[in-house]
Amino acid sequence: MTKKFGDFTAVNNVSFSIEAGKIYGILGPNGAGKTTMISLILGIEKPTSGRILVDGLDNIKHKSEVKQLIGFMTQETIVDSDLTAYENLEIGAKLYHISQGEAKAAIERALEESELTEFKDKPAGTFSGGMKRRLYLVKSMLHDPKVLILDEPTTGLDVHNRVGMWKHIRELNGNGVTIILTTQYLEEAEELCNEISVMDHGKIIASGTPSELKRMVSKGQVVEIITNKESAQKIMRVLQHEFKLSPMVKDDKIEAYLESNSVALFARILGRLIKEKLPLVSISMHLPTMDDVFIKLTGSSLRDSVGENKSDRDRIMLQRH
Ligand SMILES: Nc1ncnc2c1ncn2[C@@H]1O[C@H](COP(=O)(O)OP(=O)(O)OP(=O)(O)O)[C@@H](O)[C@H]1O
Ligand SMILES: [Mg+2]
Repeated sequence: MTKKFGDFTAVNNVSFSIEAGKIYGILGPNGAGKTTMISLILGIEKPTSGRILVDGLDNIKHKSEVKQLIGFMTQETIVDSDLTAYENLEIGAKLYHISQGEAKAAIERALEESELTEFKDKPAGTFSGGMKRRLYLVKSMLHDPKVLILDEPTTGLDVHNRVGMWKHIRELNGNGVTIILTTQYLEEAEELCNEISVMDHGKIIASGTPSELKRMVSKGQVVEIITNKESAQKIMRVLQHEFKLSPMVKDDKIEAYLESNSVALFARILGRLIKEKLPLVSISMHLPTMDDVFIKLTGSSLRDSVGENKSDRDRIMLQRH
């Protein structure tokens, strides 16, 4: 699929498939095109070219069937503060055309699943952020969809609620729901997703399982050295000329990717730097992390490039509701 807004290409000739039953992550910095891609999958936006099939159905030609197949949660929690938990879910049931006969059982089930049964008659406005989020998630799932799309499901949640949300997502997936989620957290993508696509400037620049992506960074380990700024240049030269590595330096921190799994090479580097009597604050070796993947692919750390882009989310929310 490709999506252009005027001359600007937000999603650029992207093609992928998601296996049923999996958790698929879309990871990328601000403005990468993640939300636009979700809008295309949901049929909120029409692609400039290309098409999307959901469970074999063209999402534009079979709009209403596809709507029944997908549950969707925007980044901002949308619950009505004046209404009780029960009433919020009643509205959800109407939205998804659940018959009155079935609605009651579905709502009771949703309340139990979100551990909100004892609060069902309390206004949602009195709930904590985590409770509202749980209510919103089960509201998105009332019609028992096969696919659940989550746009940044845990942004703004504290650690406790984030872990709770992960557990809930895994449970839903365990019940056979295919999950697509966008995230700005590398550790979330790694923790939850069977497959991850890294997006930048409208393109998918890499996909694979978390371990496949990490192997793309280097076949071996990453050596990380922290020193002072003056010594950093000297160490860079040693690594380049004597060890034939291509290290990267940022201020007082150096990272070098090893081409093979080599503890012996690390030991030689360590010995060499000690011999030079260079001031080492720390030197360590680790397997590539998702952050290393992101730096290698885009040249910048995801954390540096992530920020809030509220207008985008407002746009998608307005169109959906
Ligand atoms: N309706 C629109 N009109 C014009 N430009 C748009 C429109 N929607 C999105 N864009 C642009 O397309 C690009 C991709 O936006 P999108 O919201 O998909 O990014 P994102 O990856 O979700 O970013 P974020 O992490 O900030 O949510 C951005 O540069 C955005 O400004
Ligand atoms: Mg977005």
